[in-house]
Amino acid sequence: MARKKLIAANWKMYKNPTQTEEFFRAFLPLVFEHNRDEIVVCPPYVDLQAALESAKGSQIAVGAQDVYWKDEGAFTGEISSAMLVAVACTHVIVGHSERRQYFGETDDTVNLKLKSALEHGLTPIVCVGEVLEEREAGLTEDVLRRQCLRAFNALSAKKAAKLVIAYEPVWAIGTGKTATPQMASDVHQLIRGEAAKAFGEEFAAQLRILYGGSVKPENASALMSEEEIDGALVGGASLDAKSFAAIVKY
Ligand code: 13P
Repeated sequence: MARKKLIAANWKMYKNPTQTEEFFRAFLPLVFEHNRDEIVVCPPYVDLQAALESAKGSQIAVGAQDVYWKDEGAFTGEISSAMLVAVACTHVIVGHSERRQYFGETDDTVNLKLKSALEHGLTPIVCVGEVLEEREAGLTEDVLRRQCLRAFNALSAKKAAKLVIAYEPVWAIGTGKTATPQMASDVHQLIRGEAAKAFGEEFAAQLRILYGGSVKPENASALMSEEEIDGALVGGASLDAKSFAAIVKY
């Protein structure tokens, strides 16, 4: 069975609720009845309600950009999977490189967050990827193997059924530099291999692996036509309704 592609917007720390509504007003008509792929928009927490209201009745799903692994408690500033489910969020990004770089996210916290998201029925989009120094030192494969192994720790194929991975080479994020379709494809194969080791061949064959890092309307088609690339995680180019629609319709 062919894997249905997933095109996801990561708005990072951009847009307020009013701007979120404006985005959807412009975006929805552009992708009306476009059901070829799954579409998800991940705005900041404070915009979730506006996004969910705006997307109601459309094929667009709404996700969060991070989650904490406990259900509730004295954890000032955090949001749980249970809370995301309660507001009707269906997806969540876990382990984005910016969280790893600036907010102390580790392979172990990624694993805890992933397990929490799965337990609550969310679709987690787990980000992995090497930084420039690692690529230049020939460490790309080691880094990705470690990130996958640690993220998948103590999970079964059954529990991990909804897992989605996003390969985001950190040197390609917000830099205008994109991995070539071939480079991305090679890494995706490696990730699929790790998933096969952890969860079996059948699981790995169904696993969706997205590419992220300077995806734009101009390069979306070349990237998406790679057999190994099952969608995109889009930052900057997802903030504008026209440009994100053009990517969705690559
Ligand atoms: P850009 O598309 O802005 O490079 O960001 C990619 C990204 O980090 C998506 O999560």
